[in-house]
Amino acid sequence: MSGIVGYIGKMQAYPFLIEGLYKLEYRGYDSAGVAVQCPDGLKIIKTKGEISNLEEKVGKNLLAGNAGFGHLRWATHGKPSEINAHPHRACSDDFALVHNGIIENYLQLRQWLESEGHRFISETDTEVLAHLIEHYYRGDLLESVQEAIKKVTGSFALVAGVRGEKDRLICARKDAPLMIGLGENENYISSDFAALLPHTRKIHILEDMETALITASAVKIFNSDCTVLQKKAQQINWDVTSAEKSGYEHFMLKEIMEQPQALRDTMRGRLLDGGKKIDLSSELNFTTQEIKDFAKVFIVACGTAYHAGLVGKYLMEKILRLPVEVDVASEFRYRDPLLCENTLVIVISQSGETADTLAALRLARERGHKILAITNVVGSSVAREAGRVLFTYAGPEIAVASTKAYLTQLLALYMLTYYFAQERNLLEQKQLEKAGESLFNLPAQVETILDREKEIPKMADYLSRWENAYFIGRNMDFAVALEGALKLKEISYIHAEAYAAGELKHGTLALVVEGIPVMALATQNAVLDKSLSNIKEIKARGGYVHCFAQEGSEALQNEVDSIFYLPPAEDVFLPVLAVIPLQLLAYYTAVARGCPIDNPRNLTKSITVE
Ligand code: F6R
Repeated sequence: MSGIVGYIGKMQAYPFLIEGLYKLEYRGYDSAGVAVQCPDGLKIIKTKGEISNLEEKVGKNLLAGNAGFGHLRWATHGKPSEINAHPHRACSDDFALVHNGIIENYLQLRQWLESEGHRFISETDTEVLAHLIEHYYRGDLLESVQEAIKKVTGSFALVAGVRGEKDRLICARKDAPLMIGLGENENYISSDFAALLPHTRKIHILEDMETALITASAVKIFNSDCTVLQKKAQQINWDVTSAEKSGYEHFMLKEIMEQPQALRDTMRGRLLDGGKKIDLSSELNFTTQEIKDFAKVFIVACGTAYHAGLVGKYLMEKILRLPVEVDVASEFRYRDPLLCENTLVIVISQSGETADTLAALRLARERGHKILAITNVVGSSVAREAGRVLFTYAGPEIAVASTKAYLTQLLALYMLTYYFAQERNLLEQKQLEKAGESLFNLPAQVETILDREKEIPKMADYLSRWENAYFIGRNMDFAVALEGALKLKEISYIHAEAYAAGELKHGTLALVVEGIPVMALATQNAVLDKSLSNIKEIKARGGYVHCFAQEGSEALQNEVDSIFYLPPAEDVFLPVLAVIPLQLLAYYTAVARGCPIDNPRNLTKSITVE
């Protein structure tokens, strides 16, 4: 989730660009850069790290010019570095481009462009776009952008400029946000409202496959057939703070709502042909023999990432019939773990900087094991040291409580499992295709749950009046229950415990008193009868049961106090769906209790100390 800004008009472009970059800073980034149409050419200045580094580098360099664009990079392809930072040039210094998104077919395009004589200097997918535009350039930048975007698959929001066309900037978008703010003899471009609102409230939001030609005095928007559209700008009345959160009150809710997109971004280029094929070969770089030789999997992580690992255990043991151990990193590193030969160690970390997880990774590496990292941050310590990485593309997660990173970690584990099943010849082609299609459908199913957000505040209102709560579930539901309880604890400060439902009668049932809220996950149809018995045990002692089950489990309806139905799917995929109402429940409970949701007490986002 990089950030883009642009300006063309009567004023100098650079002051807006730098101010706009600061406004987008909250999105997270690892490098920054600007390009300005100066009298002596299209000048680019970029740096790794803070925006203040960029300002320092620009220093007394007068970036004088009335058109330009800037970029904050959150690395996806290629580590954070000055060369990989945007703007990117093509072969000639005349072109510059900034891009947000992922170009899926960049390797094929790069090979083809290299065979046509183009020379690449960065590791990014974006540079391919710059060369592609240069390749099609015949004196009209708009036409060459329109031509180039037809050749790419993936997502993009881009702004391009060429030295010979100082009076215009060209934009395009598909599956990544881009908007144009209208001023008086000046126009602005940004990835989101935050950079635009201090200057204008009249805003065009570009739609997929639209391109725009922007001059100081006019904005022309074209559809995918290159026909001019008569679009009316929207009047946006948000304040700047809510604009950063796309109008949501908290980053956590915004990030919960971003989950369908985060899933789509994470499956892009990996789940092919509507899910019929899963291909992780180039990223993982394991030979089929290596995959066949794995005798055990050891998953190590902390907190929410550990809970994702627990779902992975149930999944891998079921599908791969391999023993899977899951450990919290702070225990793993000090307990001299038994890692037999041919153990694959998977470390999971959103930030890629968690000290305990990093130490666990180093321990496994010292012992000579193959390591695979699942992380959200390209260039993080975990990504650099693991050797092999399956990145999640959740974009920067700002709320302390992890939501979209967890969901994409689950997806990464599912894709990995079915990819291994394919390489180990464990499933028939038809079964693989069915599983892939189920994964492919998850974002739409998550959307249908999010559309029913309004059902949650009522449940949350009840929960918010208690100081203790329980979460129960069997099988994969137990792993999800642990995550539901953690979410509730960390943001609402309600003491919440999760139990394997069958364990209650071994002690905890003593705590069930009249009215106590119990969140009962009953999504695993294979053990539905057993879950129902546990629910009855709680009801018989006066507990108040909120149930989460698949549509079609109507037998539960009369046994519980409230029920949230999830879209039906094979049991194995339910964790991805079941966690959504639990995230919303934690969120709305914390809202009802007036808690500081994005920054809970005593917690920080990335724990880089022991
Ligand atoms: C809880 C949460 C934490 C993190 C944990 C590991 O909502 O976010 O439990 O999951 O601190 O962090 P990463 O994944 O960055 O290693």
